[in-house]
Amino acid sequence: MKLLVTGGAGFIGSNFIRLVLSRHDDYQVINLDKLTYAGNLDNLKDIEDDERYRFVRGDICDAEVVDEVMAGVDAVVNFAAESHVDRSIGGPADFIQTDVFGTHVLLEAAKRHRVERFLQISTDEVYGSIEEGSFTEEDRLEPSSPYSASKAGGDMQVMAYHTTFGLPTLITRSSNNFGPYQHPEKLIPLFITNALADRELPLYGDGTNVRDWIYVVDNCEAIDLVLHQGEVGQIYNIGGGNERSNITITRMILELLGKPESLIKRVRDRPGHDFRYSIDCSKLESLGWEPSHSFEDALRETVDWYVNNDWWWRKLRDQEFEEYYRRHYQGS
Ligand code: NAD
Ligand code: DAU
Repeated sequence: MKLLVTGGAGFIGSNFIRLVLSRHDDYQVINLDKLTYAGNLDNLKDIEDDERYRFVRGDICDAEVVDEVMAGVDAVVNFAAESHVDRSIGGPADFIQTDVFGTHVLLEAAKRHRVERFLQISTDEVYGSIEEGSFTEEDRLEPSSPYSASKAGGDMQVMAYHTTFGLPTLITRSSNNFGPYQHPEKLIPLFITNALADRELPLYGDGTNVRDWIYVVDNCEAIDLVLHQGEVGQIYNIGGGNERSNITITRMILELLGKPESLIKRVRDRPGHDFRYSIDCSKLESLGWEPSHSFEDALRETVDWYVNNDWWWRKLRDQEFEEYYRRHYQGS
């Protein structure tokens, strides 16, 4: 199978490419990535010389490049997106451009090239917040942030191409991923790398917001399953079944690192901050999936990975990142 992976130099996409190459000997993977601030070829250093793998630097909004890389491709997995909620609040335009328009460009090319499967990587954030119970794939979309609204816009395009043109589409909506190669702007790697430097951990609001956490490898295994065994036209929720409040996660990280709770600093809340995410994954489970990592073990391994791989994250915590950090948390 010849697979086009977009956004494969990011966190989940790079973990997915690694998984695909390790599981499917005869697959070829093309990775189309723009290399925004979030794209990083260091994420794929161990497989860059694999002859089954090819990297192309390009934008999914560029119809010409997309058309070229789509030639002869059997399946597309679209990870490419602007992915950070806080940045979408500061500047939504790039989110609409990539997450909505970029998805449209990919769909058009997939239709023209008659790809056999188009898998859109989406998020549980499109459903919005839920106080009690869990969202199923049938629930209506109620995104709260410019990020989740742009992802919902992408999902809608994908569904429309299935309904109108019969494109064989699939969508996965996963909960919060964590693990190796996650950019230090996100909660878990930010708090690990801050704590390692004895810097404050900026916890939004009262820290009671709840997220469902999934180890990135478990998500990638589920994506691989949906790609091969999912029913076209369907949406699959992918959750870890690990709902934890942010303050709980923060305390676990500090304990694993042997750092004091005095590092926690309560800061101004995120505008429109969704209180709780929760998804029902029975549809995916009916395909035979269950996560294979326990949350506690995976968090410990993740903390160890950041401790042992400062060569990877120190480069990302550069001057540009520190300026973003100062601007974002200023006055909190
Ligand atoms: P990420 O920010 O780490 O990586 C995104 C990648 O997309 C980067 O390599 C970036 O260079 C690339 N990219 C951005 N704009 C592009 C463009 N216009 N053309 C080509 N490449 C472009 O994101 P991630 O956390 O790995 O998330 C991957 C996907 O999974 C996203 O679609 C995101 O919405 C979704 N998702 C993420 C999570 C999570 O917890 N991280 C959970 C659910 C869903
Ligand atoms: O639910 C899936 C989504 O998870 C993905 O679609 C997004 O791409 C991904 O970024 C993630 O979104 P969140 O907003 O949930 O993740 P983030 O790591 O930014 O924040 C997790 C929680 O931690 C959230 O409640 C906000 C809080 N937080 C975050 C940061 C960066 C803090 O309290 N302080 C912080 O500095």
